[in-house]
Amino acid sequence: MKSIPKEFVTTPIVYAVKNTYQIMVPVNCETVMWVKVGDQYFYDDSNGILRSASSIHRMTVPMGLLDQEKKYTVYYRIIHERKSYFTESSDVMCYESKFRPIEQEPVHIYHIADAHNCVDAPVAAGRYFGEALDLLILNGDIPNHSGDIACFTAIYDIAAQLTNGEIPVVFSRGNHDTRGIYAEKFEDYTPTDHGKSYYTFRVGHVWGIVLDCGEDKPDEHVAYGHTICCEDFRRRQIDYLKEVIATCKKEYEALGVKNRLVICHIPFSEQLGIEKDTYSKWAYLLSKKIRPQLMLCGHMHKAYVSDIGGEKDYIGQPCPVVVGSQTSKEENSFVGCAVTLYAECCNVKMTDNQRVCILEKNLVFQNDDDDSKKENENEYI
Ligand SMILES: [Fe+2]
Repeated sequence: MKSIPKEFVTTPIVYAVKNTYQIMVPVNCETVMWVKVGDQYFYDDSNGILRSASSIHRMTVPMGLLDQEKKYTVYYRIIHERKSYFTESSDVMCYESKFRPIEQEPVHIYHIADAHNCVDAPVAAGRYFGEALDLLILNGDIPNHSGDIACFTAIYDIAAQLTNGEIPVVFSRGNHDTRGIYAEKFEDYTPTDHGKSYYTFRVGHVWGIVLDCGEDKPDEHVAYGHTICCEDFRRRQIDYLKEVIATCKKEYEALGVKNRLVICHIPFSEQLGIEKDTYSKWAYLLSKKIRPQLMLCGHMHKAYVSDIGGEKDYIGQPCPVVVGSQTSKEENSFVGCAVTLYAECCNVKMTDNQRVCILEKNLVFQNDDDDSKKENENEYI
C-alpha cells in the first residue's frame, strides 16, 4: 500500500455522493485539514471554523473539478493545543494523490458487503480486477457493529487497500451498522447527503441510488431495546424516491447517463417478513419510473442472482438483483462480486479470496422506452 503520513490512519478515501466527492481522511491525532483541487481549496470546517475535535475529516469537492484535474492535495496541521487565543499548531504538511475518474466502458466494479470487521479476505477478493478496478462498492455491514469507534476502521482499511484514494468508492450502510452506542455517530464517519444515508451518485456515465433499509427486524424487536425507529426512516425514502423522480432530468435522465444502479444492503424485494407495504412502494417507483438495470445487495451471506419473476421475487423486482457477499469466518474465506458493466449488459462473477469464480452470469439490460410500463404511474406519485 502507498506510504502515508504518520498522522493518517489510512490513505484518504474518495466517496461519490450526488454530484460531489467526499474526501475523507481518518487521523490519529488532532489536526485541521483541507484539500486543493486545481486552484481551489475545500475545507473541513464548521461555519468557517476548521474542525480539529474529530478523528476523521471530510472535504466535499465538486465531482466535475476532480474528474478534470485527476489529482488532489490534502493539507493539514497538527493541533498541539487548541486555545481560545494563540492556538499552538504545526507547520502545514501535505499529501498528494492522483485520481482516476470513470471515463471508459466497460466499468470494472467490485462489490463487498458483510465483511463484519474482517479485512484480509475481503481485500484479497477485491483485488480481482487488480489495477483495472474502476469503482469499489462497500455495501453494508463492513464493521461488525457500531459498539466501538475502532470498528469503523475496517471500512477505511478495506477501501484504502483497494483504492489508495485514487478511484471512487460508493458506500451504503448495513443493518449491523445501526447497532451499538456509536451507531448514532455513524454518519460522522461515513459519506452522507447532509447526514442522510440514502442518496444518489454519479460516476462518469454510471448513475446510482443508495437506499437504506436500516434494521432488518421490526422496531419493537427485543434486541433493539426501544432504540430504533426504522419504520418511519424507510417510509421517508418513499418520499425521497419521489423527489428523485421529480428531478429525473438532473438524475438518471441526465445527459450522458448510460447505467442506472440500485445499491442497497438488504435485498428488500425478497420475502423478509417486514415492511411489505413500504418495500412494495420502493420497488414500484423504481421499476415504473427509474428503471434500474441492476440492484446490488449483500446481507444474506450468500452469492446469487435473482431474476425478475424468479422464486425470490416477492414484491416485483425492478431489475435483476445481485446478492454478492458470502462469508465464512471459520474458513477465513470471502466471496464478493466482480461486475463488468457495459451500457447494454454486464458480466457478473462471484469471486473468492483466491480469485476463483464460483458463479458467473451474463445479464442483458432491458433499456427499452416502453411507455406501457408507465401505466398506473400515478398510483404512488
Ligand atoms: Fe446485514
